[in-house]
Amino acid sequence: MRVLVTGGAGYIGSHTLLELMAQGHEVCVLDNYSNATPEVLNRVRALSNGLVHDYIGDVRDAAKLDEVMQDFQPEAVIHFAGLKAVGESQEKPLLYYDVNVSGTLALLHAMERANCKRLIFSSSATVYGEPVYLPYDEAHPTNPTSVYGKTKLIAEQILTDWAAADSTRAAVLLRYFNPVGAHASAQIGEDPKDIPNNLMPFIAQVAVGKREALQIFGDDYDTPDGTGLRDYIHVVDLARAHVAAIAYAEQATGARPFNIGTGQSYSVRDMVAAFERACGAAIKTQQVGRREGDIAAMQADATRANAELGWKATHDLDAMTASTWAWQSANPDGYDGS
Ligand code: WQD
Repeated sequence: MRVLVTGGAGYIGSHTLLELMAQGHEVCVLDNYSNATPEVLNRVRALSNGLVHDYIGDVRDAAKLDEVMQDFQPEAVIHFAGLKAVGESQEKPLLYYDVNVSGTLALLHAMERANCKRLIFSSSATVYGEPVYLPYDEAHPTNPTSVYGKTKLIAEQILTDWAAADSTRAAVLLRYFNPVGAHASAQIGEDPKDIPNNLMPFIAQVAVGKREALQIFGDDYDTPDGTGLRDYIHVVDLARAHVAAIAYAEQATGARPFNIGTGQSYSVRDMVAAFERACGAAIKTQQVGRREGDIAAMQADATRANAELGWKATHDLDAMTASTWAWQSANPDGYDGS
């Protein structure tokens, strides 16, 4: 199929392009490069020997969207483009509602004008909020606490009503847990613009000497070692979930959420120990207080994705840390070094 990938130059988007092309799909990227660099697509092209159409533009720009729709005639869209920093979302709520919610609306209007009826949405397990029970299944109450999480839930609700209005439409809502890792080539990987908010890239930057020490946020949670538990998922497994979602959307209609996680959770200290195994050196840490808004433990029940998408994660913890270390050590300054 012809698949438009908004935000396709990003961390998850770039890994998804490679998996789409490996399955014979034709891809087109729309990205405004607010959190990515064109070098990423150069590397994707080198790794795939494939054709990657690309347009520079904002997903809120109707004229640009119409240009892409008319030129590429997508049969499906994977919508990654959006802002994703939880802390920043609290400081700049209107920016997050504008990009993540209005951007999704603008995309849907353009899809209607182009008669494109399938959308795979980059959602997040953060829509669940504090767990009522674990592991989270898709029936778990949704009660996001951050603006970021609220934008994802609102976009899901918009997509649900959009799909319900026309029985030929499909919206696949992928609720990611914690994406980590990098492509086996070590040519693409996670490259946060500023100081990393997320655990794995921060550990990786300590390991290459870019950061002094990892601050461990809280050791008094009700977890085995007191630090936060998360369901980390390898980005290649996550990318493959999008390819499975495209196949599902070819024959399904309506809107349906799917948890995309492994069903196994690890603590912060587990991740540090695993990374030390991968890089062969100690990671300096500093114990500090909890980070505001953090949840003690998150874990996915991915039964529905296994059963209905035919998808299951295959990369284990050591593959996650080893691939991250290979990427970071080969690219100490991320894409800036290129
Ligand atoms: C993981 C664990 C921290 C950094 C968020 C979003 C989610 C997705 C991933 C966008 C927690 C601890 C972290 C550090 C630490 N974002 N930690 N020191 O908060 O689970 O999820 O990012 O797609 O939607 O909600 O991920 O990696 O920030 O934190 O101790 O320097 O690591 O307390 O327990 P999180 P994270």
